[in-house]
Amino acid sequence: MNVGDRHYRTIWLNEDGVSVDVIDQRWLPHEFRTVTLKTVEGVATAIRDMWVRGAPLIGVTAAYGMAIAMRADASDAGLDAAWEKLHETRPTAINLRWALDAMRALLKPLPPAERAEAAYKRAAEIADEDVELNRAIGENGLAILRKIAATKKPGEPVNILTHCNAGWLATVDYGTATAPIYLAVEAGIPVHVYVDETRPRNQGAQLTAWEMAGHGVPHTLIVDNAGGHLMQHGAVDMVIVGTDRTTANGDVANKIGTYLKALAAKDNGVPFYVALPSPTIDWTVSDGVKEIPIEERSGDEVSLVWGKTADGTVTQVRISPDASPAGNPAFDVTPARLVTGLITERGVAEASREGLQKLFPER
Ligand code: MRU
Repeated sequence: MNVGDRHYRTIWLNEDGVSVDVIDQRWLPHEFRTVTLKTVEGVATAIRDMWVRGAPLIGVTAAYGMAIAMRADASDAGLDAAWEKLHETRPTAINLRWALDAMRALLKPLPPAERAEAAYKRAAEIADEDVELNRAIGENGLAILRKIAATKKPGEPVNILTHCNAGWLATVDYGTATAPIYLAVEAGIPVHVYVDETRPRNQGAQLTAWEMAGHGVPHTLIVDNAGGHLMQHGAVDMVIVGTDRTTANGDVANKIGTYLKALAAKDNGVPFYVALPSPTIDWTVSDGVKEIPIEERSGDEVSLVWGKTADGTVTQVRISPDASPAGNPAFDVTPARLVTGLITERGVAEASREGLQKLFPER
């Protein structure tokens, strides 16, 4: 997508041909900065400390991390150590393990001397594939939006609520939940997006709102607790969110607070869609609540908030007593029964084992 007049992906190979450049998301929306990652340790830090984030982008960044690692040590031990180092960065998004496994399966049978070149090639392919998957998700989601626009809201904007950032910043390009929104805008379908701020890290306020503003998408930032009220008053026509891991049964792990939105949507008859590329499906897991590991992050993310002061300084402030400990589960699981449909690159699946298997019979 564009930043100003220039097209950016969130990750690209540096002109030195071996390092990787990413948009450093810690500074948005106040500053647009990029950062160069040169070592596997640097890549692990960028993922763990959320310079890059969002399940698909975490996967692609890790794939490049494997390539960078192969330049330093392409032995079997080096390969396994890089896999471990990158895998331990964040536990919930399955795209991370998917990408690391794909890289290891490709590289292990190759002689070490050939591994680095093959790894860079495959990482670039995974990045390109992500763009294609998101574009297809966009087309499939657009069909739903068109239908709602034509049947429920002729001539009026379709009101979409989204949580966290499942936008282009969370992927290589387009985003998952935002892809149908961007395509609807391109197609001239009027939309308006309610952007949940998404405490504690405010990915909605900082990233999704920045994306919407940058692409001229009408939007309103709301506190996380406003969604239920808006749904009760008919202000939301549909919810679209992303996911970090979806089980073979259609349970959906996503940013903390997603579950509450799904409950409110169910109670108010608002369709609740989840947009996901197939690498986000964990076919080995059935019961999301019991089996998906939920990342517990530092309580500082709850107690300390980033913002810009009147003089333009970007700084952190404490919002709670120094002595109050804070808990920070980063994701929750929305059971399949609350999900209207899973928007994938192959079409829209019912959120169930049968629904997913119909679209992915090879699994
Ligand atoms: O902690 P984050 O910012 O990495 O969490 C991101 C989300 O929860 C997204 O909704 C999810 O990764 C899907 S991104 C297309």
